[in-house]
Amino acid sequence: MNTKYPTIKKCLFPAAGYGTRFLPATKAIPKEMLPVLTKPLLQYGVEEALAANINTIAIVTGRGKRAIEDHFDISYELEHQIKGTSKEHYLTEIRSLITKCTFSYTRQVEMKGLGHAILSGETLIGHEPFAVVLADDLCDGNSHGVLAQMVSLYEKHGCTVVAIEEVPREQTYKYGVIAGEEIEEGVYRVSDMVEKPDPKDAPSNLAIIGRYILTPDIFDIIRDTKPGKGGEVQITDAILEQAKQGRVLAYKFKGKRFDCGSVDGFVEATNYFYAKSES
Ligand code: G1P
Repeated sequence: MNTKYPTIKKCLFPAAGYGTRFLPATKAIPKEMLPVLTKPLLQYGVEEALAANINTIAIVTGRGKRAIEDHFDISYELEHQIKGTSKEHYLTEIRSLITKCTFSYTRQVEMKGLGHAILSGETLIGHEPFAVVLADDLCDGNSHGVLAQMVSLYEKHGCTVVAIEEVPREQTYKYGVIAGEEIEEGVYRVSDMVEKPDPKDAPSNLAIIGRYILTPDIFDIIRDTKPGKGGEVQITDAILEQAKQGRVLAYKFKGKRFDCGSVDGFVEATNYFYAKSES
């Protein structure tokens, strides 16, 4: 599509968190590498980015996350071992991703929240609009990936876009929650955003899920953002500054989303993708 706005070419994956909810599994394995069927969560995210024509992948890692770099690299020994055997096809998908995408990494050296993690990625993103995927929100948009849906909306409006879904009121304390006016079906002009509000204080039941398109002024805003909920620098608080200027849309995406940061969501995702693979 022709658009007057800069194209989204880069996707940032904050992947420095400890994954405490999955201990002891995440003691030596990054939570982003936990597999749903045979693919790690992060690979699903990278595939979703590629489906949105985004092939520059920027990953914010931390200590103990080296398996991520190895995953998105050729393993010559393995390739050599299985070349010409019946097992070769198991590597086809990941090999294709490695060919089509470039991967770069930086480390978040202190865990100071999602806003801070995104700011750590500035060195990889530079001054252009970009996507953010939180890999533990696993999305299935079927033929039309969630990030691709959001890029289409960005191409029309040229502003920050956050993905939302309706959640039961009593769960608002787990999410960033927005308030806004619906300007077209499923698209809201955001007027307020609160990070993990108590249900009684939540401005709505429209929860942000881990997909964002951000304009690059967000980096300066994050630099000026004071620690918020939980003493961490929250991306929600930074985006609120853009929202106050009418520059944020929330988009009710089409598709399914699983909270793979929780054991229940992870099991649900596994069952869903298994049933899908069998059909
Ligand atoms: C983060 C964000 C939150 C958002 C959520 C989506 O929270 O801070 O606003 O709703 O991701 O998964 P986390 O789940 O990392 O605590």
